[in-house]
Amino acid sequence: MITENQIEDTLSGMFSDIVFSDEPAGLYDPLRYMIGIGGKRVRPRLCLITYALFKDSFDEKILEPAAALEVFHSFTLIHDDIMDNSDMRRGVPTVHRKWDSNTAILSGDVMSIDSYRRIAKAPAQVLPEVLELFSTTAAQVCEGQQYDMDFENTRDITMDDYMKMIGLKTAVLIACSAKTGALIAGADKRTCDLLYKFGYDLGLAFQITDDYLDTYGDSSIFGKKIGGDIINNKKTWLLTRAMEKGEELENTGAIDPAHGKTALLRAMDMKAGNEAEKTAKIDKVKEIYEALGIDEDVKYEIIKLHAQAMNYAGLIGLGKVRYEMLHRYADRLIGRNK
Ligand code: IPE
Ligand code: IPE
Ligand code: MG
Ligand code: MG
Ligand code: MG
Repeated sequence: MITENQIEDTLSGMFSDIVFSDEPAGLYDPLRYMIGIGGKRVRPRLCLITYALFKDSFDEKILEPAAALEVFHSFTLIHDDIMDNSDMRRGVPTVHRKWDSNTAILSGDVMSIDSYRRIAKAPAQVLPEVLELFSTTAAQVCEGQQYDMDFENTRDITMDDYMKMIGLKTAVLIACSAKTGALIAGADKRTCDLLYKFGYDLGLAFQITDDYLDTYGDSSIFGKKIGGDIINNKKTWLLTRAMEKGEELENTGAIDPAHGKTALLRAMDMKAGNEAEKTAKIDKVKEIYEALGIDEDVKYEIIKLHAQAMNYAGLIGLGKVRYEMLHRYADRLIGRNK
């Protein structure tokens, strides 16, 4: 069986040896910058793990598709940072800040193309299915990103709207990563589908953890500026739940009106032009979250979704050693502070 250490070594080797074209530098340097800094590599790691559940060694047929997932993900981050007006990512300036937006758009485009070249290296017998899954997923990520932006200008969304949005922008790619490894390893349909569901629920928990860290993380570890979601009026899990709970408690008179939904709506209207205004807005929203207990509720939600994901993993019938490998991966994904 392939061990977790082998998976980690393979992942580091994969990205230190990865080759992209040299010229023009303005197109390929940002790509090398993003891949070189490297994030957590959550998606290729999951793909290699689900492959390793069924196979005893790695070859190009899995390594290139696994790399495709990371290249595709990094492309979405470059464009996401333009859309979210973010200055920092992975502890360094974002591509559109270090270069400019036009460079970030075009480098992102070429990364998307590069990811297709790599996913197409999947073995011939599963290639149609792998490609179809990848294309569907890529379109869904764009749909999710559009909802995410639409929601910036929507005062009130339901928790169902929120879950659908993060399902698209984040969970489907993690689900796709889990299923792709299993498909390439030749696992049966039922197993592949259960791994997809495992990845999807874990992906939801992962995005909610990201939402949590955007408000409560430590910037020097998280690698992104804290409070960006509040400044942009992003409909995170925290804000969506605070709206619901703030309304319930306000209607029953169980909360001081300074910390109910009306106060939250007012906080969302606060200007955030300069640093002092940004800090005041972040502090106000956090004060309301804490009065409503949202900072605690979010932890239960993450644990609940993680348990749902592990439930799907349990249905596969993997045996203890393999099941525990998935368990450790899932624990790491939600227990993170970066
Ligand atoms: C950030 O993804 C965007 C989300 C979907 C939350 P990651 O947290 O995987 O970012 P990196 O790749 O580790 O930088
Ligand atoms: C990003 O969501 C999802 C995608 C990039 C598709 P976020 O906007 O929350 O990601 P971060 O926080 O900038 O990494
Ligand atoms: Mg975003
Ligand atoms: Mg963002
Ligand atoms: Mg985020």
